[in-house]
Amino acid sequence: GSARRGVPEGTPVVPVRDLPSRPRRNRKSETVRRAFSETFLHPANFILPVFVHDGDKNIPIDSMPGVSRLGWQHGLIDAVAEARSMGVNQVVIFPKTPEHLKTPTAEEAFNPNGLAQRTISLLKDKFPDLEVYTDVALDPYNSDGHDGIVSDEGVILNDATIEYLCRQAVSQARAGADCVSPSDMMDGRVAAIRQALDSEGFTNVSIMSYTAKYASAFYGPFRDALASAPKPGQAHRRIPPNKKTYQQDPANFREALREARLDEIEGADIMMVKPGLPYLDVIRLLRDNSPLPIAAYHVSGEYAMLKAAAERGWLNEKDAVLEALLCLKRAGSDLILTYYATEAAKWMAADKPSWR
Ligand code: PBG
Repeated sequence: GSARRGVPEGTPVVPVRDLPSRPRRNRKSETVRRAFSETFLHPANFILPVFVHDGDKNIPIDSMPGVSRLGWQHGLIDAVAEARSMGVNQVVIFPKTPEHLKTPTAEEAFNPNGLAQRTISLLKDKFPDLEVYTDVALDPYNSDGHDGIVSDEGVILNDATIEYLCRQAVSQARAGADCVSPSDMMDGRVAAIRQALDSEGFTNVSIMSYTAKYASAFYGPFRDALASAPKPGQAHRRIPPNKKTYQQDPANFREALREARLDEIEGADIMMVKPGLPYLDVIRLLRDNSPLPIAAYHVSGEYAMLKAAAERGWLNEKDAVLEALLCLKRAGSDLILTYYATEAAKWMAADKPSWR
């Protein structure tokens, strides 16, 4: 072989013989890499989770740098306006309930003048075309810190809880919610909520089911944000310290398919897998077994891990975040719930190819 330009002196330049397939040819320039890319992120796929509280100031959340409990009027409106300006037009709201309004049966969840309901109405007044998702579960309103009602024996009561979840979902729909998202993992709640919504005339309100929600350690910062972690029991009431009797065991894969089949029959419009990155196999499982849109929740602990490493200079935040979100998409999700939604959309908008 003859010497070639740019090859360090002394480097052998004889091509390997009988190597017709060289995958690197399809990676040789930014132009072809972009041309052959199989997966794209778009801000239209993002859902921004927002924490709100009944006050004026934005209160930073220690374990989620860059995220605050927003003042439910100005702080919230500003954050949503900023997200929309970057192409993110979907939010899921998480209200922080003051401790004195929490009860064992979580009545505040369906108070027509509750913070959730006021927040939904305000957002829909201000931004009629914004898709507003709500969380349906009792934990932010429950003095025991569980998604369902806890009996004196420490059992999370399935069917009694469903009755309350239906009231909560209907009251959110009345306030103007576009999509209600049961995150409680009670059996049969999607069918019951569908029926309750329909019987009140809310046939157009969608249901995004937390189909495969795991009993995960990655929700810690979220529970800090809402002070919603399970509370220690008292002498006369045994409160389970974790959510393992209703959220799925991280060891289990087939069980997610069972939940998915039920959610399809029960009328879910969107199925969610949560957390995101540690559960890419489950996202792919549902993608290959259902025609429904799939959502992935890049949860608070995943956000905190990236922020912590980025703050120490151990990771390039932009590259790591965009890679993480892209991988959620590649695994098969259509929607991504992420606290990075606005920031990621900004990075994406600034990311111009080299030839432009
Ligand atoms: C409420 C709910 C939780 C999250 C979303 N909805 C907490 C939990 O189930 O304990 C977690 C979201 C996150 O960690 O970002 N049921």
